[in-house]
Amino acid sequence: MSRSLTGQRAAPYAEALQAHRDRNGLPFMIPGHSAGQSGGSERLSDFLGERALRLDIPQLVEGIDLGPGNAFSRARTLAAAAWDARTTWFLTNGASQGNRMAVQALRMLGERILVQRSCHSSVYDGLVMSGAEPSYLFPVTDAEHGIAHGVTAAEVERELAEAAAKGDPYSGLVIVSPSYFGVVADIPAIAESCHRHGAALVVDASWGAHFGFHSELPESPTRQGADVVLSSIHKLGGSLTQTAFLHLCEGPFAGKLEPALEAAYRLTESTSLNSLLLASLDIARSELATEGDALAASLAAARELRSLVDRTPGLRIAEPDFLRSAGATEIDPLHVSIDVRGLGVSGPEMKTRLARAAAPVFVEIASPTVIVALIGPRSSPDVSGLVAALVRAGETGAGSNRDSAESELVKRIAAPRPGRGALTPREAYLAPSESVRAAEAVGRVAATMLAAYPPGIPNVVPGEVLTEDTLAYLADISTLPSAYVRGAEDPRFDRVRVLIDQTIS
Ligand SMILES: Cc1ncc(COP(=O)(O)O)c(C=O)c1O
Repeated sequence: MSRSLTGQRAAPYAEALQAHRDRNGLPFMIPGHSAGQSGGSERLSDFLGERALRLDIPQLVEGIDLGPGNAFSRARTLAAAAWDARTTWFLTNGASQGNRMAVQALRMLGERILVQRSCHSSVYDGLVMSGAEPSYLFPVTDAEHGIAHGVTAAEVERELAEAAAKGDPYSGLVIVSPSYFGVVADIPAIAESCHRHGAALVVDASWGAHFGFHSELPESPTRQGADVVLSSIHKLGGSLTQTAFLHLCEGPFAGKLEPALEAAYRLTESTSLNSLLLASLDIARSELATEGDALAASLAAARELRSLVDRTPGLRIAEPDFLRSAGATEIDPLHVSIDVRGLGVSGPEMKTRLARAAAPVFVEIASPTVIVALIGPRSSPDVSGLVAALVRAGETGAGSNRDSAESELVKRIAAPRPGRGALTPREAYLAPSESVRAAEAVGRVAATMLAAYPPGIPNVVPGEVLTEDTLAYLADISTLPSAYVRGAEDPRFDRVRVLIDQTIS
């Protein structure tokens, strides 16, 4: 994990923005808020601060992103070096943009793509945009906690080998690691398998933006053989919301993927990139690459939280359970998963109680059994305050009907296998659709994605045939108080959108 810090203290784009502001030029260009210099909205200025407005400048400005060796291109080079990537794209449309780009680029290598079924919805957007023909790998599910983890290297190998033996290989595989709960998959083994079968590996490492920047953290997939890696820097990397990096790594597909990703970037990005967002990426990269101590503070806070939880009756750290699941190699120390069942409260109920308390506490996620506290870089939050709030929340109104229903959710983790894909997601997206009663939709082709939350693994993807089992499962889920069916036409799952004139027997 030791690497050169050469130049990483600099944040050339952010510094160029500051220098531009200090030149005090007369603004006769967009943005029309005039950077607070010549009138403009006082209200906006009061809300954001004049400083932020004056750093909000358009693209193609001399000294910033214009001409060879400009500050923005130097910032891109430094970001690529920090992750040992060949090329890095600054994204201001979220990691969602990165997934759309990655799938679009994979489609340029070939038609068939293998996808971890629990990927983020933006991967499915990429399937719609690209017209790729997907097959799915189902993640390992955790029946005790009602959550999905990652895919195993053995499953990847089996699926890729089978496709190759049939003479119908995949051009690429898209997986998520770490999971929303911080569980890390065996990237080196999965990458080796992909490359042996001629497939490129895309790792959506949105939740592992900080990986590789401290010896106690898991390694970044950019150094483990992945071809394309997505880092959602706004999640745990310290930049502003909606920012991410997409890294292209050196590897067997880099030459083909580079122009494909550039084309996909142009397809998905605005021509007016937000300078504040870009600068926040530049600064976050510099700090991640050079401030090991800052990450050490976050790691110490996470350790203290775990130790407090261990000493508090009714609470326990759930991570040892996660690590027992097949394919899990490590867990991100900055995701702290706390099992709250011992307090007689479910995870979602606990999350709600914490947020509604007089002194509110906001945690990132809840599963039926756990809440997950995230600790960002350079952050030392009041971990004893969180533990005290958990205990207090456990004492108020424990054991509601809602909670017994939550435990029902865990039992329903084993969803039926989806129906077969009759059309690609793109074909289904473009076809005319209608809303019908769910009870009458068996054999119809789905127009929208339907996913039971938790655990959020899509039960139906556009273009797939709706089966009796899946419809019954989703109807069942929609009756539970803290569960819902994402993509349903109505909360009770009475109606579902299907393609017109497409019934498959
Ligand atoms: C695994 C994963 N990938 C991508 C995204 C999309 O990230 P963004 O909200 O930055 O677009 C998310 C969002 O939470 C996610 O969980």
